[in-house]
Parts: sequence; structure tokens; C-alpha cells
Amino acid sequence: MAELQIQKLVKRYGDFHAVRDVSLTVADGEFLVLLGPSGCGKTTTLRMVAGFIEPTAGQVRLGGTDITSLPPWKRNAGMVFQSYALFPHLTVAQNVAFGLEMRKAARPEIDKRVEETLALVRLEGYGGRLPRQLSGGQQQRVALARALAIHPDVLLLDEPLSNLDAKLRQEVRVEIRELQQRMGLTTVMVTHDQEEALTMADRLVVMSEGSVRQVGSQRDLYERPADRFVAGFVGRSTFLDGTVEAPGRFRTDGGLSLTCAGGQVSNGGGKASLSLRPERLEVAAAPMAGLDNCLPGTVEFVSYLGAMIDIHVRLSPADRLVVQIANREGGFTPDVGQTVHVGWRASAGQVFNK
Ligand SMILES: Nc1ncnc2c1ncn2[C@@H]1O[C@H](COP(=O)(O)OP(=O)(O)O)[C@@H](O)[C@H]1O
Ligand SMILES: [Mg+2]
Repeated sequence: MAELQIQKLVKRYGDFHAVRDVSLTVADGEFLVLLGPSGCGKTTTLRMVAGFIEPTAGQVRLGGTDITSLPPWKRNAGMVFQSYALFPHLTVAQNVAFGLEMRKAARPEIDKRVEETLALVRLEGYGGRLPRQLSGGQQQRVALARALAIHPDVLLLDEPLSNLDAKLRQEVRVEIRELQQRMGLTTVMVTHDQEEALTMADRLVVMSEGSVRQVGSQRDLYERPADRFVAGFVGRSTFLDGTVEAPGRFRTDGGLSLTCAGGQVSNGGGKASLSLRPERLEVAAAPMAGLDNCLPGTVEFVSYLGAMIDIHVRLSPADRLVVQIANREGGFTPDVGQTVHVGWRASAGQVFNK
């Protein structure tokens, strides 16, 4: 295993920047997740690390060595592709052996590694099958075995769980994470799924439009999002638009005057958003004491999510919030059309300039 360094990596297609100036360091044994919406440059970044895409500028270093100009099979990087990309006409064992053959390993060594790696992903005895004779979850494990068989210095995973159904996805997440920890694998995984990112990562990188927006732990990103984009993408936020009238005072476009966290300075009357976490808001039939803000509103929409219930409350013609409450036995669940009171502490929100 080794440390991976990405330095000022750029990929341009004509005038279009798929990746702009991305720099990251992944520590030896660390599980780093690149999280961002579709099209933000995650796959392009990962493929530049693997050697399948040539960077327009920048460097990739693995264990201190510059590997930027090496072809994929000369980099000790194991990659799992989004669609698995198994060779359909090759058996499971031949698929797993592929990287070793590219690297001209000796036959007995190849056979030994294939057997070991299939055992590692719990597919002993499946070596003679073709990919189409396997379930989606098994195919995913073959793709993982193919990446691991070369004993990579870095494991690269591109949306490895996106083809699995929801329940299997949750199981495989845990399997991959345990395997990665046990083997001490330096790993970079790409996903657009924030729950997957939050469950698996040691550290996360939020990307948008080819750039890194924020790097940090789950807690850093959730508690201290760097901008409105991160606030909306990691965890959930509900936004009120308006202006900061004075430090600690936010006026919404609908005319509500709210207390917001101190230290958030007015931006000269310019447009701002107050971002609130739905699960940090409270809702009750009567006004609530002891909160910095408490406002009446009308329930417009209720969605029942099982463990949680989302309540959409109209506070003014221009202001609507989502409140998320736990679905507790005997808990208060308002109906559509009902008048309720929504309250929160100033610390539940964060103001971002627009
Ligand atoms: N070969 C290419 N030619 C032109 N544009 C491309 C090419 N490959 C990717 N792009 C564009 O680069 C951007 C980033 O793509 P990608 O890295 O695949 O995003 P992600 O994996 O985050 O969904 C997208 O807008 C995509 O359309
Ligand atoms: Mg992608």
C-alpha cells in the first residue's frame, strides 16, 4: 500500500473543463470518497489516476513515484468500473487473472492468486462460471477480485454499488469497507450517493463542476459546510432566501425577521440564504418556548418515510420549510391544512451569501 498524491490535475475537452485543478492526498490505508452530482468530474479524476485518461495538466504520484505518464498496466492500481466491465466470454477465473496476465506473471503464481482472491471475496468454487451465470452482487465481487488480484498499491472504485438493489447495496458496502480495513488498502471511491459516501469514507471530497468544493470528515461537512452547494448536498438542507439585515438578524424575502447564528456578518444587504437542517427544526401545535425562532405556519404537504416524517410548512407566501420529525409512537403528526408552529435554535442554521 502507498500514499496517493494528485497534484493540480486538469482535464479539458476542447474548451470544456471536465476536471479543473484538483489536488488531493490520500494517506496510506485511507478510504477517500469523491462525492458529487453526475457530471462533476469524478470518473474522469479516477480514470486519470488509473491511467485510462491522459491529464491535460498535473501529476499523479503513488508511493512518492510520478506515475502520470505510465500506462494502466504499469501502475499498481486496481480499478472497479461502474458497470463492472467483466469480459463476458471469459470465465470468472480468467477475468480475475486478467491483470496478472497483463503484468506477465507466471502461470502457477496466477493460479494461486486467483484462488486466494476468489476466497477473499467469498466466491470459492465459482472460477469456472461465466459472468452471466452470476447474480449482480456476485459479478460485483468478481470485479473487486480482479482489482485485488494484482495486490494493488491503490484500489479505485467507480460507483461500485450502483447496479445493486438497495438491500444488497447496504450489505456490500459493509463487506467492502471491512475488507479494505482488514487489508489496509489505500482506496478512492467515487459515488453520487451521499449515504454511501457517509457510511464508507474515512474522509470525503465534495466535487462540483470539475472542482473540489470541500474536503473533510462526515462531521466537518455536515456541521460546517463551506458553501450552499455542500450544505445542500451533504445531509439535507431547507433554504430560506433573504438578506442579513444586521449581524445575527436575517430577513426573508417573505418579510420574516429571524435570529441567525452570531458572528455571521451582514454582506452589505446582498442576497443570502439561510440554510436549516430539517431534523434540527421542531414542530408543535402550540408556540414553543426557549427557542431563538418560533413562527406559525400552515402544513402543505406531509410525506411519510417510515422511520421519519417530512412536513412541508408554509411560513409566508415566499417562505416554505421542510421539518423532519422522528416517527415516534404517540408523537405529534400534523395534517395537511393544519396551523402549526415551527421553531429552531439559531445554531441550527447557517447563512451563505449568494
Ligand atoms: N470524452 C469526453 N469528451 C467530452 N466531454 C467528456 C468526455 N468524458 C467526459 N466528459 C464530460 O466531462 C464531465 C465529467 O464527466 P465524468 O467525469 O464522467 O463525471 P461524473 O463521473 O462525475 O458523473 C461531464 O460533463 C462529461 O459529459
Ligand atoms: Mg461517473
